[in-house]
Amino acid sequence: MKVLVLGGGGREHALVWKLRQSPRISQLYCAPGNGGIAEDAECLPVDLKNLDSIIALGQQLHPDLTVVGPELPLTSGVVDEFTGRGWRTFGPTKDAARLESSKSFAKEFLQRHRIPTAHYAICDSLQEVREALVHFHPPVVVKADGLAAGKGVVIAASREEAAQTASDMLSGKLVGTAGARVVLEECLKGDEVSFLVLSDGERVAPLVAAQDHKRVFDGDNGPNTGGMGAYSMPTIIDDKMRDWLVNHIARPVIQGMKAEGTEFKGVLYCGLMMTARGPMVLEFNCRFGDPETQPILMRLESDLLDALEASVDGHVSEGDFKWSADAAVCVVMASGGYPGRFDAGKKILGLDAAGAVEGVKVFHAGTSRRDGEFYTSGGRVLGVTARASDLPAAVQRAYEACAKITFEGAHYRKDIAVRALNK
Ligand code: AMP
Ligand code: GLY
Repeated sequence: MKVLVLGGGGREHALVWKLRQSPRISQLYCAPGNGGIAEDAECLPVDLKNLDSIIALGQQLHPDLTVVGPELPLTSGVVDEFTGRGWRTFGPTKDAARLESSKSFAKEFLQRHRIPTAHYAICDSLQEVREALVHFHPPVVVKADGLAAGKGVVIAASREEAAQTASDMLSGKLVGTAGARVVLEECLKGDEVSFLVLSDGERVAPLVAAQDHKRVFDGDNGPNTGGMGAYSMPTIIDDKMRDWLVNHIARPVIQGMKAEGTEFKGVLYCGLMMTARGPMVLEFNCRFGDPETQPILMRLESDLLDALEASVDGHVSEGDFKWSADAAVCVVMASGGYPGRFDAGKKILGLDAAGAVEGVKVFHAGTSRRDGEFYTSGGRVLGVTARASDLPAAVQRAYEACAKITFEGAHYRKDIAVRALNK
């Protein structure tokens, strides 16, 4: 079987690494891929911002299955275009992907289907923002409606700050057209959990839960990033909570989407806040999380291809995944300056020594390869991921591996999973 993975980050390296283990795959391609992915799959150039470029690649390859990693091609309709040409593709259609691409759509959907989420207001002008703010107690969460690569959420300490932030979003100053509409939200408190489910449009199969670390610095300080590290282990949520989340959140979303004529196939990522009032939806993503996918797939013991095909072909069942009871931790090593401006092209040393640490797999996110050497090429550079029988051992292995890797300006959080260790 010929499989194409679209994307070129750490998530896609984990997907490729796991798919490589499937005995039914004879040809594995990744576009555009990255330096590390090139060791596991044949990488091909593509411009993921340009739908025509992706379609041209499909015409060249005629893949038996295409797996779409990032949100951008999903929200621009790559699944509609590929399935329309008879190419089996894993992921939601453009309309279904609105759960991620429009926060106002997601909030109204949640309200229609009585799925727990924070109180909110949708505003198209500064005047609407000012009127709505009267009903919010600070801090107030201000969100750009559209895709903003992690920069579209601001937690404002006061109503004045919220109004200023909303104004900067509405004017296009902060996140361009993604902020032409804003959503104000009540600020929720609690532990965040990334709860992902596989769906065929009707049924769901939960993946093991994970926890991300979004802020750039230790202690959850500094600006938000795409994610600086994540871990997964059996006790993040217990079986009872998992069933509750399936029955009260994931399945109602999938069935609600079907009832509204926008069947959702693929992975639905539910970003949850475990509040004193119970779990509440913070956001949806219409794809695998990055970096959550790295530790999640380290724990997967069954064939990923079988599961992805069950989604595409419409026979998902809860038994589609077999999981290890181990813990897994991913520590992201980033370029100096990330999530702000950073330089690329720094030589990376120590990858072999890091990969030799027991239980460790170094996933590449922003790397390129020249003459057998690896160089940085993005903000998030590597996802150093370790598996072990318990969380302390997995954390120890991941950091032992990180200590062996060097590149100019490298930085990473030293406290991934530490809150769970201290519990
Ligand atoms: P998003 O860009 O939607 O993934 O949100 C980014 C982060 O903002 C989330 O992971 C939370 O940490 C935070 N966040 C979003 N909505 C809320 C909320 N209503 N209350 C508290 N924190 C939030
Ligand atoms: N780690 C958060 C995300 O994938 O959006």
